[in-house]
Amino acid sequence: MKIPFIDLKTQYEQYKNEINQEVLSVLESTQFILGPQVSKLEESLAKFTNSKHAIACSSGTDSLLLALMALDIKAGDEVITTPFTFIATAEVIALAGATAVFVDIDEKTYNIDPKLIEEKITSKTKAIIPVSLYGQPSDMDEINLIAKKHDIYVIEDGCQSFGASYKGKKSCNLSDIGCTSFFPSKPLGCYGDGGAVFTNDDILAKKIRTLTNHGQEERYKHKYIGINGRLDAIQAAILNVKMKYFESEVEKREAIGTRYNELLVNSGVLPPFIEKDRTSVFAQYSIRYKNRNDLASKLNQAGIPTAVHYPISLHQQEAFASLGYKDGDFPISEKISSEIMSLPMSPFLTNEQQDYIVNAIKENV
Ligand SMILES: Cc1ncc(COP(=O)(O)O)c(C=O)c1O
Repeated sequence: MKIPFIDLKTQYEQYKNEINQEVLSVLESTQFILGPQVSKLEESLAKFTNSKHAIACSSGTDSLLLALMALDIKAGDEVITTPFTFIATAEVIALAGATAVFVDIDEKTYNIDPKLIEEKITSKTKAIIPVSLYGQPSDMDEINLIAKKHDIYVIEDGCQSFGASYKGKKSCNLSDIGCTSFFPSKPLGCYGDGGAVFTNDDILAKKIRTLTNHGQEERYKHKYIGINGRLDAIQAAILNVKMKYFESEVEKREAIGTRYNELLVNSGVLPPFIEKDRTSVFAQYSIRYKNRNDLASKLNQAGIPTAVHYPISLHQQEAFASLGYKDGDFPISEKISSEIMSLPMSPFLTNEQQDYIVNAIKENV
């Protein structure tokens, strides 16, 4: 059996007629940037998350950068985040001119440990960026409370968690600003790059929208230094089709993730831990195993691709050498990055495929 890591092909086959038709209608219209498809998408994103505002943009990375720019975060400021994430989370802090301050993660959820945040807050701290890693939101109540106490902002990096919920509320609407990515392999993916920023604050929303389009308030009248962070109409048209089926895909993801967890009990690998008061959309289904590389190569021989999210903590990346961290500074993050591995996951993974993966794991651990 040859199993795809993320099954975008089956998804396209299922929605093909509608997607092709919508893309064609954008081509016919020749309106390629912003326009009615983007407005329609923003409306359904806001409705889905129950956010007052959703602003579509060019990528998850740009959604985070726009959030920092809207909050005026700049040189001399500090932003607290996790070292166990995709580099974009901390990269945008550096791009804004500010300093990333890392806080270690919780050993069960792999999300930022709220108990360790307060000791890192200084007079320069302007924001906290918790990442809802693999699709599971962080301890947002605890984090929002700390932020409120210190009068700083919380930006949720929900690039992996669009569709998840926390205490009945949707990810991306759990703090001052929520950010997400529509990179093709994400739970809601387009066919190129895309993202969105969410907020309930009218003033911030207006500023984010303006920043997305070169800080332009009226044509050729620029209030801020912004970026070209717009979403194009073809991506929006594809996302509008996928939004129709998204709720049912989220349910399938949850069911497949739960089934993996049940099948892997006492298997020798550690399945992901999901807190009772929240859900995960399993953007990645990641297990832990000490002899990861050996298991990965055996699974690969059996036609089962795996990936590592992420093999090196951000404080150990050359790009962040100037921050002055050293090995051992974030022991949990370092330990998890040496043991973590992701298995094939998509709403279209069949029971037969899943049984095959689980049996191959059991035979090789
Ligand atoms: C946690 C996290 N943050 C940010 C990003 C950046 O998103 P994008 O690739 O759309 O720029 C990603 C996705 O790759 C991500 O997983």
